[in-house]
Amino acid sequence: MAFHDTPTSRTSMSVAFLSFLLMLVRANNASITVYNDKDLLEFPLNLEFLEAEFFLFGALGRGLDSVAPELTEGGPPPVGARLAKLGFLVRDIILQFALQEVGHLRAIRNTVRGFPRPMLNLSKEVFGEVMNNVFGRRLHPPFDPYANDINYLLASYVIPYVGLTGYVGANPLLQNFTSKALVAGLLGVESGQDAVIRTLLYERREVLVEPYGVSVVEFTNRISKLRNKLGKKGVKDEGLVVPKWLGAEGKIEGNVLAGDKYSLAYGRSPEEVLRIVYGTGDEHRPGGFYPRGADGRIAKSYLSNNLNLPNNA
Ligand SMILES: *[C@@H]1O[C@H](CO)[C@@H](O)[C@H](O)[C@H]1NC(C)=O
Ligand SMILES: *[C@@H]1O[C@H](CO)[C@@H](O)[C@H](O)[C@H]1NC(C)=O
Ligand SMILES: *[C@@H]1O[C@H](CO)[C@@H](O)[C@H](O)[C@H]1NC(C)=O
Repeated sequence: MAFHDTPTSRTSMSVAFLSFLLMLVRANNASITVYNDKDLLEFPLNLEFLEAEFFLFGALGRGLDSVAPELTEGGPPPVGARLAKLGFLVRDIILQFALQEVGHLRAIRNTVRGFPRPMLNLSKEVFGEVMNNVFGRRLHPPFDPYANDINYLLASYVIPYVGLTGYVGANPLLQNFTSKALVAGLLGVESGQDAVIRTLLYERREVLVEPYGVSVVEFTNRISKLRNKLGKKGVKDEGLVVPKWLGAEGKIEGNVLAGDKYSLAYGRSPEEVLRIVYGTGDEHRPGGFYPRGADGRIAKSYLSNNLNLPNNA
């Protein structure tokens, strides 16, 4: 390299070398791709759309197309979302969550361009399949998230927590303070929602879920276990009652909030989040709530690599 190279040729060689490295990274190891703030802020729109629709339908029987149609940008209406049979308190709380999610969608859209509402499958069959996977057998009758307070809360236990871990995971990767302020604000309210859901379930932890005869606490422990399995990054998810060593300070079994050994919230990468919400354990294989996959550059980078997909436009 010490010959007669001009600064220009050195520069173009480094540029070429860098592009080559980047290509290698893209081709061989997507897990070390560096995301920019825009990608990291757009990614959670996928979860916010899901939460907004699930909570709006659960509480009102109608979703964004009725409440804030401008936010959908023409994305398809969710499949199978329904009004849930809820008591007064739970409906009141879920409606508040629903409108909070609408606010979150606006806040993200005020900061980054975003994308239209992705195709969401919120049918009771999808939740039924999640619960079958949770128990490793077919539940009879199939689990119906919309049937009553407890079922709806258990279905809700499945969602905001994943968003929360995604925000914790994204925060240290962000470059600028506008992005950090937004993510901190979103994280605060998502974790508040998770805490409310967990508290309502904790109060009912010994209740047996009808007609399965399985307690609420066992449902939560098993849902958390499945998410850990799908995420493939060890324990980042904990049910409502845990072995003492997993509780706060390793000293308590009650676990109304999940946290690591210092009671700090667990963080998940976008890849882990996708493995969980697709229900496939693989960010390249959409399914579950996202039959066509999630949107945004991060999620799409995994879809376009997979030539076997039926739906990857
Ligand atoms: C990507 O890099 C990580 C960390 O070095 C490694 O654990 C993982 O196996 C690599 N993945 C692929 C697909 O090469
Ligand atoms: C920070 O990121 C946001 C969102 O991508 C962008 O709108 C803003 O211009 C960025 N600010 C700076 C100072 O880079
Ligand atoms: C929604 O999911 C259920 C259960 O997997 C499936 O039977 C149904 O075909 C799905 N609908 C769409 C439109 O993907």
